[in-house]
Amino acid sequence: MNTQTDAFLKDQPATPVDVAQWAEVGQSHPHESAALHVLGEATYTDDIPEAQGTLHAALGLSQKAHARVRAINLDAVRAATGVVAVYVASDIPGTNDCGPIIHDDPILADGLVQYVGQPIFVVVADSHDNARRAVRKVVVDYEELPAILTPQAAHAARSYVLPPMHLARGDVESAFAIAAHKLSGELLVGGQEQFYLEGQISYAIPKEGNGMLVQCSTQHPSEMQHVVAHALGLHAHNVVVECRRMGGGFGGKESQSALWAAVAAISAQKLKRPVKLRADRDDDMMVTGKRHCFHYEYEVGYDNDGRIVGARVQMVSRAGYSADLSAPVATRAVCHFDNAYYLSDVDIRAMCGKTNTQSNTAFRGFGGPQGAIAIEYILDEIARNLGRDGLDIRRINFYGRNESEGRNVTQYGQIVVDNIIHELVDELEVSSAYRQRRAEINAYNASSLVLKKGLALTPVKFGIAFNVTHLNQAGALVHVYTDGSVLVNHGGTEMGQGVNTKVAQVVAHELGIPLALVRVTATDTSKIANTSATAASTGADLNGKAAQNAANKIRQRLAEFFVTLFGGDNSADITAVTFAAGMIQMGEYSISFPDLVQKAYMARVQLWSDGFYATPGLYWDSKTMTGHPFSYFAYGASVSEVVIDTLTGEWKLLRADALYDAGASLNPALDIGQVEGAFIQGMGWLTTEELWWNKDGKLMTHAPSTYKIPAISDCPQDFRVSLFKNRNVEDSIHRSKAVGEPPLLLPFSVFFAIRDAIASVADHRYNPPLNAPATSEAILQAITAVEAMAAG
Ligand code: MTE
Ligand code: HPA
Ligand code: MOS
Repeated sequence: MNTQTDAFLKDQPATPVDVAQWAEVGQSHPHESAALHVLGEATYTDDIPEAQGTLHAALGLSQKAHARVRAINLDAVRAATGVVAVYVASDIPGTNDCGPIIHDDPILADGLVQYVGQPIFVVVADSHDNARRAVRKVVVDYEELPAILTPQAAHAARSYVLPPMHLARGDVESAFAIAAHKLSGELLVGGQEQFYLEGQISYAIPKEGNGMLVQCSTQHPSEMQHVVAHALGLHAHNVVVECRRMGGGFGGKESQSALWAAVAAISAQKLKRPVKLRADRDDDMMVTGKRHCFHYEYEVGYDNDGRIVGARVQMVSRAGYSADLSAPVATRAVCHFDNAYYLSDVDIRAMCGKTNTQSNTAFRGFGGPQGAIAIEYILDEIARNLGRDGLDIRRINFYGRNESEGRNVTQYGQIVVDNIIHELVDELEVSSAYRQRRAEINAYNASSLVLKKGLALTPVKFGIAFNVTHLNQAGALVHVYTDGSVLVNHGGTEMGQGVNTKVAQVVAHELGIPLALVRVTATDTSKIANTSATAASTGADLNGKAAQNAANKIRQRLAEFFVTLFGGDNSADITAVTFAAGMIQMGEYSISFPDLVQKAYMARVQLWSDGFYATPGLYWDSKTMTGHPFSYFAYGASVSEVVIDTLTGEWKLLRADALYDAGASLNPALDIGQVEGAFIQGMGWLTTEELWWNKDGKLMTHAPSTYKIPAISDCPQDFRVSLFKNRNVEDSIHRSKAVGEPPLLLPFSVFFAIRDAIASVADHRYNPPLNAPATSEAILQAITAVEAMAAG
């Protein structure tokens, strides 16, 4: 052993660290950009300093829902102030397509327009304002065609963007034949605008030799790279897409950032100047797709205890004019019709109605909420029909507690191995004082004529993984610099959810260094190739594992090097080396991380590494709709108490209790923030957010003046969110569970509490016909309907 090294190592201050206790994961660290967010210093795409010569683009939109374009006169547009260029479909150098799966999504409409708001041409001008003003000077001669606007109309016309899907198990007909009770009905659940605070935007900057850099607000940089390359007629290696952060995506930037990236890049390539395309809010809402609205027809048989013995449902979504992600959305709906319940005999059909409206796309939950709300609606009706509490009926239908209890295989064949819904709901029932409040509410309603209260508890079980198996992969790159600071890149994108914070925590933990030493930078297709969208709630699961893999390789090399420093060489020594609190230690030897790194560099040890992860065990047969599509399930439940005004239909959420299973949470503060945000967002979907198209197919609710997302005043005064104490049975990143989407289903309890309050006007004897969103108008109509039923 080199005595100098020996002396140095032993000289290090004795570490007071309890290595076993040290952890950077599982702690509530603030979001890595929290300070920048509140200071207004966080750079969004539109904040990037503009390069010299930057031009601004605007889109010319179809004014008809379905029409042939006979002629388009752009003379006045070209002559308008500040206009530099005008492009139509035939000007696109490569492929005129930005569809993610099926290529039925033109970037610019070519002769046929299929919805009000479809882009037909691009104006590039010296300013954003001039571009937008010029657009309006177009004269288009349309030959109008019949338009289909609703899922019901699409279904009647057998107008679908894809072939219908069918999943069946058991024999529903026989089940119905022996069922003590039957019910059937219809339900319509509206769509939802993503309403990210930062709208769609792309800024394309031409580079030498056919290069193109696109700064894009996107959840899916690799897909943007492909779309741009195809549109420009270039290879992927010519195009770099970068995204430091989004001001929210919520699924709306999974595929539909492509149009904006392509248009900016096409314009930039043709003009050889940087071009920015930023949508104003109205255009964003007119052009882009939203959550799919769903129409359901259902038929269910159940026994005297309220247990479902057979269920048949047909779901038709409003896909819009093209396929976009409608197929995987419908698949997820089919795979979430069970929610937390075992359905022995079941028959599910799903169709994606082709309509002359915006092409609907991903939105937090991705069809999961639409699948699960249908069974909740059905259980809500069964409970009322039997005069029982909704919680009792839900409980009796839950998946079995464990294997020996049976009832643990989903309709698509995946075994539910970790069912904790019983324990979780038991805990919430007590902590929310559910039974006591039920009694109090009954007493209140008995003496309150105009105001009526309602209460509901609803559970959530949500499958985690992309339901398209190959997408479940991720890459990462970890650089350790010679001063001991660490830079991480991974394929995930930051949209406010905190994926960068969680990935940094994982890397810090792996290297045993404080989080402050780790920095995560912009997502960049030139650093990590072939990434999946940051979606399906898998951002931290996949990229956390990939980054852990990269950091672990470096840790391994450092451990080996550390052992050689004092003359050890065996693998037992290497595995005994600990990394914690910035110190590397083995027996009496210890050294600080920066010191070891510096020495390792001098000894020519590689201090950076790539990492990769592919979720194991997943498979899916799309023909039979069976397999093992999910890595695991995340669970949750919530209780909501509302009061409604039976004369005006106004309502208020008085108290909400939510309990969510984030496994061994990587960062409880971030996870609670996700649960709170998703809860309120889901509540907006089911109550105030109403998309309304006029008879000509024009979306009339295309701004916050007419489309009401929840405000701070809509949040419950009493909001109790907690995480269920648990560890993932699957080997997920540090045994955590995903949190991004599942909590969006928690506010089902708000909707059913409203329905409960409405039902109270006739002693809960009738099922209020209530579609979502339960706007004040819809609540009032449902009250009138229930009163009419009671009057006979
Ligand atoms: N949280 C914030 N603040 N902003 C967002 O846009 N998107 C949601 C969810 N939480 C979103 C969010 C959606 S749709 C998904 S799929 C997940 O975050 C994606 O991030 P994750 O997989 O890293 O959790
Ligand atoms: N979620 C989000 N995006 C997706 C999915 C999913 O389950 N499957 C394919 N793309
Ligand atoms: Mo989230 S809808 O999977 O982007």
